[in-house]
Amino acid sequence: AQTVARTGEGAVAVGGLDVRALAEEFGTPAYVLDEADFRARCRAWRDAFGQDADVFYAGKAFLSRAVVRWLHEEGLNLDVCSGGELATALAAGMPPERIALHGNNKSTEEIARAVEVGVGRIVLDSFQEIARVAHVARALGRRQPVQIRVTVGVEAHTHEFIATAHEDQKFGLALAGGQAAEAVRRVLGLESLELTGIHSHIGSQIFDMAGFEVSARRVVGLLTEVRDEHGVELPEIDLGGGLGIAYTPEDDPREPHEIAKALGDIVTRECEAAGLAVPRLSVEPGRAIVGPTAFTLYEVGTLKELEGLRTYVSVDGGMSDNIRTALYDAEYTVALVSRSSEAEPMLSRVVGKHCESGDIVVRDAFLPADLAPGDLLAVPATGAYCRSMASNYNHALRPPVVAVRDGRAREIVRRETEEDLLRLDVG
Ligand code: LLP
Repeated sequence: AQTVARTGEGAVAVGGLDVRALAEEFGTPAYVLDEADFRARCRAWRDAFGQDADVFYAGKAFLSRAVVRWLHEEGLNLDVCSGGELATALAAGMPPERIALHGNNKSTEEIARAVEVGVGRIVLDSFQEIARVAHVARALGRRQPVQIRVTVGVEAHTHEFIATAHEDQKFGLALAGGQAAEAVRRVLGLESLELTGIHSHIGSQIFDMAGFEVSARRVVGLLTEVRDEHGVELPEIDLGGGLGIAYTPEDDPREPHEIAKALGDIVTRECEAAGLAVPRLSVEPGRAIVGPTAFTLYEVGTLKELEGLRTYVSVDGGMSDNIRTALYDAEYTVALVSRSSEAEPMLSRVVGKHCESGDIVVRDAFLPADLAPGDLLAVPATGAYCRSMASNYNHALRPPVVAVRDGRAREIVRRETEEDLLRLDVG
C-alpha cells in the first residue's frame, strides 16, 4: 500500500514526508495521495490482464489532469461518465481512442463531443440512446464504435454489492426478457454504429468472485445468441469495475491477478464451449486503483466527552470531503499521526464541522485518551469517491489533493478559496 512509516519522533511519514510538514505546507483537511502507489496499482492491473485485455480506469472514483497523465504513461485507458470527465481527459491529453463514454442519460451535447473527438467507445445504455448516438454519428459522417450495456440479473444479496446488475434499476438493457437482444438487433441495423461488444458492470466494493463469474458467463451467452441469430461474432467483452478494497482490517479484497485469472478462465472456457473466438476483454476498476492510495489528513479541533459512552472528536472537515459514511454507512479506520501516544484507548466518534448530527467521518474508533486539539488524524483509503463526491455544503472549501512522490509533495488539485466559492455568484 502506501509507503507509510513512523518518524523518530513518532509522527507518520508518507512517501518520505512527515505529515506535520504536509499539514504545515498545505493545510488541513487534505487528501494525501501516494503517486508511486497509484502507478504501481495501474501496473498491477495492466500486468494481470496482459496484452489481450484493456484496463479502463473509472474516472468517477477520482479524476484530475495529473491522474490522466499517470494513466496515459502507465498504459491504461479511461472510462468517463460525463462531459466534464471527458473534458478533463481531453485537456490532459488522453488519446480519444483510449476513452470510453458511459452514462444512462448522456446529453446530445455529450454524445456529439464524444463522437466528434473520436472516442474509442460509447457504451449504449437505452433504446433512445441507440437512436441518438446513431443520429449524431450519421450527421458527423462517422461510424462510432459502441458496446451495449446489459444487466445480467445477478441478485445483490450482501451489502458489499452497491448493486447494478439486477434488472429493477436504471442502468442497462436486461438480458432477461430479450431487451438486450433487441438492442443488438437495432444496433446491427444502423450503418453509423459499429457494435464491438457487450458491457456488464455488476456493482461496486465486491469481494466475492461469484458475481463476476455469473456476469461473464451470461455475457458470453449473449455473444453466442448474437452469433446464432446474426452470424456475427462480437470481438469485445467489458466486465466493468467493482473490485472491493480494504477499508477495515476485516475486509479481505481480491488482487488484480485473481480477478484477471477468474474472468479470463471463465470467458475462455465458455467461449470454447460455444465455439466462439475468445473476445478481447476489458475491465473498469476505479476504487481498486485509487482508493488505497490516499488518506485524508485532518486536524482535531474540539473534543466532547460523554461519560461512559464515547468521545466526539471534531475535525476540520467532514461530510463535505467524505460523504460515504453518511451515505452508505461506510466504515473507516482512523489513526493519530502527528505523534505517538501510550495513552489508554478511548472509544471515539470522529465527526466533522457541518451543521448536522449525521456528519460522521468514522463512526466507531479507538483513539488515545490524551488526544488534544491540534493533533493530526489520518483516515486511510479515501482516494476513491471522496474528493470526487466532495461538496461545498456550508460553503466548505473543498480540500486539495496533495501528491507525494520521492520525498516531494505537490498539489495536483489545489484547495478551494473563498474567491472560488463566490465565482459563480451572480449579482
Ligand atoms: N464501470 C462502471 C460502468 C461503473 O458504473 C463504475 C462505478 C465503475 C466502472 C467503477 O467501479 P469501482 O471499480 O470503482 O467499484 N460512489 C460509490 C460507488 C459508485 C460506483 C459507481 N459506478 C461509493 O462511494 O462507494
